[in-house]
Amino acid sequence: MKKIFITGGAGFIGSAFIHQILEESSDIEVINFDALTYAGNPENLKGLDETRHKFVKGDICDKDAVLNALPADAEAVFNFAAESHVDRSITSASEFVTTNVLGTQVLLDAARARNVKRFVHISTDEVMGSLPDESNLYFTELSPLKPNSPYAASKAAAEHFVRAARETFGLDTVITRCGNNYGPRQFPEKLIPLMIANAMNDEALPVYGDGRNVRDWIYVEDHARAIWLAFERGKSGEVYNIGARNEQFNIDVVKAILDLLGKPHSLIKFVADRLGHDRRYAIEAEKSETELGWKPQTDWEDGLRKTIRWYQENQDWVERIRNGAYRDYYKKMYGASLK
Ligand code: NAD
Ligand code: TYD
Repeated sequence: MKKIFITGGAGFIGSAFIHQILEESSDIEVINFDALTYAGNPENLKGLDETRHKFVKGDICDKDAVLNALPADAEAVFNFAAESHVDRSITSASEFVTTNVLGTQVLLDAARARNVKRFVHISTDEVMGSLPDESNLYFTELSPLKPNSPYAASKAAAEHFVRAARETFGLDTVITRCGNNYGPRQFPEKLIPLMIANAMNDEALPVYGDGRNVRDWIYVEDHARAIWLAFERGKSGEVYNIGARNEQFNIDVVKAILDLLGKPHSLIKFVADRLGHDRRYAIEAEKSETELGWKPQTDWEDGLRKTIRWYQENQDWVERIRNGAYRDYYKKMYGASLK
């Protein structure tokens, strides 16, 4: 059995990755190390082959806990664990610095101490900042790092430490930078699941600013597949952009969700813009396509339909979150603007 160590595997993308690799291979054993913050959900791990999935509750900033859980000579560390929501980073950035920067450094040190063969760091296109409206410019692996939100700044800082571990100590590292993911089990603070959940409950859909910000959307399983290929085929020290060439205006995403649910556009409510709101993300993924032999398999219409169906069939999953601590966050974040 090949042992791989995954952090943040109870979250949205990490859990999709674990489901996929355990389904598609029989010689892999996963250690899933996750602190179960508000975003981590053990329900996301239902249905996994328990003989090849070991869950360890722990914080990536806790050096001893990481060293205890990380087996010597593991094939890889996949670092998904992070504080991941831009709006929360605007309210309070320090948790982002702690987990995303310090936590990554703790993992890098532990990976060296345990002779891990490869460190795969899951980063984001947001480290490259914002592109001008409707231009022909795209993010490439050579784009400068120009993060604008505290979240993006913490992810950019983490990348620097990953690079430094390779240059200084020769740790074998690969970084992936993906665009906006959507799909099952995404926490309903993010655009698509928030809009689906609100629309299903006939509640207002809060669109920031003029709704003309652009995001480059990718179905989560396509991202997961790219990460695995970056591990298997990526060159040490390289960065790989991952994107499905699927730029959408926010307002069009929201309207598409309402149309698929058969709900009226009158539910849309334009609210105050996010501070420092990045205008456009667009990814040139040619390097991943040619060097990794990766291509997305799910198109936007299909992916959105599948995602909506999952939320319709798992309303208890959504409701359990909406009835918990999330309710206070939602009130604080949107309360005044949706009155
Ligand atoms: P998520 O917020 O759904 O999940 C994060 C997971 O990390 C949770 O299970 C949480 O419990 C865990 N975690 C948080 N702090 C931790 C800590 N200190 N120690 C251990 N575990 C901790 O996030 P996601 O959307 O699944 O994103 C996963 C990764 O992918 C992140 O690194 C994010 O920056 C990156 N990413 C996300 C997107 C996206 O669209 N969601 C796009 C590109 C990159
Ligand atoms: P989000 O899902 O938070 O991802 P990110 O900020 O990392 O791209 O937001 C996606 C886009 O949707 C972004 O332009 C902000 C916008 N947005 C809204 O208009 N309303 C909302 O309630 C949320 C959460 C996001």
